[in-house]
Amino acid sequence: MAVDAPSGRPHAQPDNVGILAAEVRQEDLEKHDGVPSGKYTIGLGQQGLSFCGDREDSVSMCMTVFRRLLVRHGVDAREIGHVQCGTETSVDGSKGLKTYVMPLLEEAGNTDVEGVDLVQACYGGTAAVLNAAAWVESRAWDGRYAVVLCSDIALYAPGPARATSGAGAVALLIGPDAPLALERGLQASHMQHAYDFYKPGGPYPAVDGPLSVYCYLHTLDTCWARYADKYERRTGRPCALDAVDHVIFHAPYNKLVQKAYARLWYLDGCRNGELGAALDAAGVGAPAESGAAASRHPFPPTSMPPGLEKYLLTSAFASYDAKVRPSTCVQRQCGNMYAASVWSGVAQLIETTGAALEGRRVLLYSYGSGISATLLSLVGRRPTSDAHAARFSLDRLQAVSTLAMRLARRPPAPVADFLAAAARSEDLHSSGGAVAYTTSWPDVRDLAQGTYYLTKVDDRFHRHYALRE
Ligand code: ACO
Repeated sequence: MAVDAPSGRPHAQPDNVGILAAEVRQEDLEKHDGVPSGKYTIGLGQQGLSFCGDREDSVSMCMTVFRRLLVRHGVDAREIGHVQCGTETSVDGSKGLKTYVMPLLEEAGNTDVEGVDLVQACYGGTAAVLNAAAWVESRAWDGRYAVVLCSDIALYAPGPARATSGAGAVALLIGPDAPLALERGLQASHMQHAYDFYKPGGPYPAVDGPLSVYCYLHTLDTCWARYADKYERRTGRPCALDAVDHVIFHAPYNKLVQKAYARLWYLDGCRNGELGAALDAAGVGAPAESGAAASRHPFPPTSMPPGLEKYLLTSAFASYDAKVRPSTCVQRQCGNMYAASVWSGVAQLIETTGAALEGRRVLLYSYGSGISATLLSLVGRRPTSDAHAARFSLDRLQAVSTLAMRLARRPPAPVADFLAAAARSEDLHSSGGAVAYTTSWPDVRDLAQGTYYLTKVDDRFHRHYALRE
């Protein structure tokens, strides 16, 4: 598909999903939890989950990906004028994550850096990207780059949600003339009050799993309808899923991503009136109405006729394979990374697709419980300035990306280590947070070079970090 790529517009150039010290394989967790084999690997579609020992936290992960972004792309710390962090697992009730990463810029004498943290469930990173892009477009812009850091640790209480735990961080460089541009005007949101997932206190979130799944899918319906209307007003052409080459979803677990894409495929078929005959032929309309009638009024996610969801998953599978799977590997292996989840998909897509993204449209669905959600599109392009093309072209980004290698190198950890990490999180909450505490695991030698880690929290709650050289 060819798309007119805007130039000189703000856009995101993603890099460096934070890879954690250890991973748990979902098969081992199934055995430990005593659930039937396949419940997590097939039922939830997950291969593993990431977690942190006591040496890593949301701050250290932010510092790791931020430093790697600067080093790998030869960005001088003085070229950064704006930093925002999206997180819901900060380490302090007042002092933002952003302040903890400032030493990386301070050492170059750069303290003229706007931006603070944004907290709104899994949506904080997306809010930060939109703010950073708005800063580049604004009267406040001074020609420098913005950086967005998304970092989170997802840890659930024992029960069905626990297998969807995870952790990860992503750093994004935002500026003009970049290889993935936010499409002007093609952005639709849905914001609403709901108690599907929240953190009133204690070591674990309060989560209504079925409600959160319903809210995620129903919000997608609303965002797609609004996006499609805007697309049609803007381009004068009918909006169809064919106009989209790739779709990246916020990924609590991969099965929900598969269902979300099947739903998008269904909504597209309904909007364009193409589904009725197929549904009738497959016998999956509701008892009271034929597939043709059903396709004019999509069923809400919770009241699909029997067989319809299965039919959609099967029918959309080839399209899912081509448009969605290339962005899902990190998500399937690391679990829910909350604010980092959807943006890890961008980094993954660049690694799998590279320069082939030029001229292609990427749809991105960011969902945060509570509810805040945005469906937006990005377009791949070659930077027009020679300097930017040399540093940030998609083929170069692909060439320097090492995600698959770093994922493969993660040492598998026993379920017992994951449980120990959860127990430690519970202890910290009941004792009011770490104080006068020296970290001990994993062994520093087992951390990848270039990883920041927490060495201790002193008796004034000051946190001390070091770099694994
Ligand atoms: N083999 C294969 N599949 C299996 C097996 C098995 N042995 N056992 C169960 N399954 C399937 C089920 O059929 C079901 O499939 P379906 O979704 O196609 O119907 C799937 O596994 C899930 O099983 P359930 O029993 O329906 O649900 P469960 O009790 O495992 O809970 C839930 C799933 C609600 C998602 C839970 O993990 C949760 O609360 N997660 C946290 C909340 C969340 O992630 N919400 C998403 C959006 S909000 C956010 O990002 C935080």
